[in-house]
Parts: sequence; structure tokens; C-alpha cells
Amino acid sequence: MAPPAALLALSFCLSVSDGSILVPLRLFSGNFNFSSAVGLVALRQVALTADGSGLSLASDPTGTVNFLDMVNNLKGDSGRGYYIELSIGTPGQKMNILVDTGSSNFAVAAAPHPFITHFFNTALSSSSYQYTGQGVAVRYTQGNWNGELGMDLVSIPEGPNGTFPINIAAILSSEGFFLPDINWQGILGLAYPLLARPDPSVTPFFDSLVQQLGIPDIFSLQMCGAGLSASSTVDAAGGSLIMGGTESTLYTGPVWYTPIVEEWYYQVEVLKLEVGNQNLELDCKEYNTDKAIVDSGTTLLRLPVNVFNALVTAITRSSLIQEFSSGFWDGTKLACWMKGETPWRFFPKLSLYLRATNSSQSFRLTILPQLYIQQITDVDGTLDCFRFGVSSSVNGLVIGATVMEGFYVVFDRAQRRLGFALSNCAVSAGLPLSEIAGPFSAADVASNCSGGVRNEPVLWVISYALIAVCALVLIVLLLLLVVPCRRRNSFGEITDESSLVRHRIK
Ligand SMILES: *[C@@H]1O[C@H](CO)[C@@H](O)[C@H](O)[C@H]1NC(C)=O
Ligand SMILES: *[C@@H]1O[C@H](CO)[C@@H](O)[C@H](O)[C@H]1NC(C)=O
Ligand SMILES: *[C@@H]1O[C@H](CO)[C@@H](O)[C@H](O)[C@H]1NC(C)=O
Ligand SMILES: *[C@@H]1O[C@H](CO)[C@@H](O)[C@H](O)[C@H]1NC(C)=O
Repeated sequence: MAPPAALLALSFCLSVSDGSILVPLRLFSGNFNFSSAVGLVALRQVALTADGSGLSLASDPTGTVNFLDMVNNLKGDSGRGYYIELSIGTPGQKMNILVDTGSSNFAVAAAPHPFITHFFNTALSSSSYQYTGQGVAVRYTQGNWNGELGMDLVSIPEGPNGTFPINIAAILSSEGFFLPDINWQGILGLAYPLLARPDPSVTPFFDSLVQQLGIPDIFSLQMCGAGLSASSTVDAAGGSLIMGGTESTLYTGPVWYTPIVEEWYYQVEVLKLEVGNQNLELDCKEYNTDKAIVDSGTTLLRLPVNVFNALVTAITRSSLIQEFSSGFWDGTKLACWMKGETPWRFFPKLSLYLRATNSSQSFRLTILPQLYIQQITDVDGTLDCFRFGVSSSVNGLVIGATVMEGFYVVFDRAQRRLGFALSNCAVSAGLPLSEIAGPFSAADVASNCSGGVRNEPVLWVISYALIAVCALVLIVLLLLLVVPCRRRNSFGEITDESSLVRHRIK
């Protein structure tokens, strides 16, 4: 066996035995080609590339955190991600850091890259930066980076007061991670230690914050891009990351809580989906195929293939629009209307039922078409174009920014639950773009919808076959080359799925 082929086989085997099924990231390239013919539903091809007060103070027993100071500390939008400003090192270097509840490493560019304006220069922070000598690499669906683990002092200008030592992964090289027009230079993974690379002993940022400041183990997130054009060049939207509690001025009505099924991603249990008022009537395990998670770093609402197909069928049936080509649903085409003729009235509401903390009940999150039929760009002054804010997924249901922008989301890690309330910024022309209601009886669904179907059976068969072949090749390689071969980690299936800011638009 020729060495290059062997190595190729080896790397292929490692990625397969990790359980990874990489999904190519699809990005709108921005090279929209619009003809001038306009109908009610003129779908046009776009090119795709393979290239995301007092009341609130009461919940903080330490009394040291003022949540109002954190309001509006985020900038960005669903397409390019929401980011917060952090000051890293001594003296502090200001960086914009993407807020991602779907991963657990804090990583910052530490070398120049064409798509970023500046990077964290560890040499300028020699008095406090500590290099641990350990390499680290993280692979997302859309890209990856390599770097070294270190530690430095970090402060959050619009966050809890103080300067604290934090684990930092210094990104030295990357591929497809930084993209054009983003205005952030790093990523803040807010999920649990289980997802941290290279292993869970690397304490994630928020865990460190809680340990060092003694703030409650809870943060909440408001993302305000609802109804705004996804490709506007200015960061018009924004939002809030409240660390240590909830800020009551950011939402109205009650907070509905759902249990966190497993503490790795923020995994929840979806019981039911409705289009209009029509139940999709799938086995509830289908909704949680593989898993169902809440991820601020994913742009769209992503649904397991069966669920996605049922949803598209139901929308087509109830949307009054007959001419949709499949390209609109699979994200390869935009739908354009004459300027000012908004299409939302042609589409139904979408509702998602989550298990309530009382397990025999559920509550319902509803998003209006304004949230999932997303305006892309002002094309040539005569057309408004829209994309479908839902996509299919082979690695689980993801409640991404498309849905999160409708709600104030409370990550109550202390009580192992996620809360949802009506967001005060999910409003357009005075009308709310989301609804929340409950409780509903969960008697009509199974008592456990999680963890049933783990993957497509066909994929499993293929995976096993490949793993068997790989095992053989690996044994041969081990015997021939005595390559020290260890599994990357014991949670190999995690690496493929931190679908960071997918479907970004240039
Ligand atoms: C747009 O379409 C026209 C006609 O099909 C073609 O000549 C032109 O190159 C296209 N432009 C882009 C940017 O794809
Ligand atoms: C930080 O401290 C200052 C001065 O004590 C205070 O005014 C401010 O509210 C504090 N910020 C936060 C987020 O607690
Ligand atoms: C949970 O919900 C069920 C059904 O609505 C109700 O009968 C029961 O009293 C509730 N349990 C608690 C502890 O509230
Ligand atoms: C639901 O089922 C999955 C897989 O069988 C299991 O891991 C999980 O603990 C169950 N959850 C509950 C609440 O029983």
C-alpha cells in the first residue's frame, strides 16, 4: 500500500469512526442573478457555493451585577451571528466574539486572516498570557480551526464587573471559519464542558465566570434581528446576553420552562409541530431524531429530513401558492416579489411544542411567517427577495436563530431547564412576530420522545460497513507503521454538529 493512500485511508477512517457525517455548508454567494420578469411568485436562481431595574436585580443574590448594564451588549444578525465585545489580555485588546450556545470553547484569532480586521496578539499580552503547550482543534460543519490552548485575563465591558483568568484557544490557522463581512474575531461557546476540546477538563468561559464571580449559573439571550433584512451591511440589529440572570425589561408575559434532557448541547424535547393549526402527526420521536437542541450559532430552524419534508408539504398545501419549485424549499433559490408586496400573508404560522417541566404538559412556541420567510436583499430597487428560513438536517433538530429571534431564551443551568418568553424586540410595525401559549396536555404523545431514532437506518448500515473496513485498514496500518492511533475523544459524535452560523449570507 502506497503511504499517501494509506494516510488518506487513515484520516478517512478516523473521521468515519468519529461518527461524523459532515454536511456541506451552503452559503448564498451573493451573486444573485435576477431577471426582470416578475410574477407573484417569481423564483430565481441564486448561485450557491460550498464555501452564520430593581426587579431583575432581585434574582442576583450577590447583588454585584447590574443586568441593565448588559442590555444591548450584542451586535450582529442571524446570518452573520451575534457577537459581544470582550477585552482580552494585559493591556486589554478589544475583540468581538460570536455568541454560540452550540459549542463550548472560547477561541480567538491569534494570527492575521484576510477576513478579519484584527487579532489577539499574545506577544503584546506577555505579562498575563500563559501558553499551556497543548494543541487544540475544533471542527464545525462549516469550517474548522487549529490553535493552542492558553490562559489570559478577560473582562467584559458590558457584563459583570471584573477581570478574570479564562481558558483561551488561540486560533493560528483556520479554514472556512472566518467569512467575508463578519465583524467578529472569535467564538464564545456557551454550552457544557462535555463539548469542550480537546477534552471536558478545559473549563468553558461561562463555567469560569460562575466559579470566579459567584454569579448564578444562568444566562439569557435576546437576539433582535427579527424581520430585518438579513443582508443589510450595517449591524442594525443586536441583542442582549444577560450573564447571571434574567432582565425583566426584555420580555413580556410568563417564562415557560422545558427541561434540559442532557447537559452537553442544550438538548430539549420537542413533542409536536404544527403548520397553521394543522398537526404534522408524526411520531414524536421523529422530531428528536438524533437530538433536538437550542443553538444561537445556527442561523436557521433545522429539521430532521422526514419532519422537514412533512413541513414543506403542509406549507405548500396551506400557502395558497402553487408554483413553488423545490429550489425554494431546499435553499437554492430565492422567491422575489414586487417591492412593497410582502409575501407573509400567503404563509401559515409554525408552532413547536416543547415538554413542560410538568412532564404531562407542554407549551407552544409559534413563529409568524415574518420570522421564517426571510428578506434577503434589496435586489435592484424593484424586487424584494426572500429565502426559506428552515432547512433539513441529518444530525438533529436545531432551534436556531430563526426561532430564537422570536423569544427571550433563559439558559437556566442551575435548574437544568431552558425558559422561553415573548421577546420585546420581536415586533414589526407594532405587531408581535411570535406567540407563546400553554399549558397543553401531553397525554397524546409518548412519555419520552428523546433518544429514540438515533440516525437514518441506511446511514447506520453504511457507517458500520465503513467502520468495519476502516478497522481492517487501521489494524494493517498499525502493524505496518506502528502509528500510535487513539480516538480523538470519547465523544466523537459531537464534532460534526456544531453547525456554526450556517447559511450565512454575504
Ligand atoms: C446572469 O444571467 C445572464 C443570462 O443568463 C448571464 O449572461 C450572466 O452571466 C449571469 N450573471 C451572473 C452574475 O451570473
Ligand atoms: C460595575 O461597577 C460600577 C461601579 O461600581 C457600577 O456602576 C456598574 O453597574 C457595575 N456593572 C455591572 C454590570 O454590574
Ligand atoms: C401536571 O399536569 C397534570 C395534567 O395537567 C396535572 O393533573 C398535575 O396536577 C400537574 N402536576 C403538578 C405537580 O402540577
Ligand atoms: C428517554 O429515552 C432515552 C433513550 O432511550 C434515555 O436516554 C433518556 O434517559 C430517557 N429520558 C427519560 C426522561 O426517561
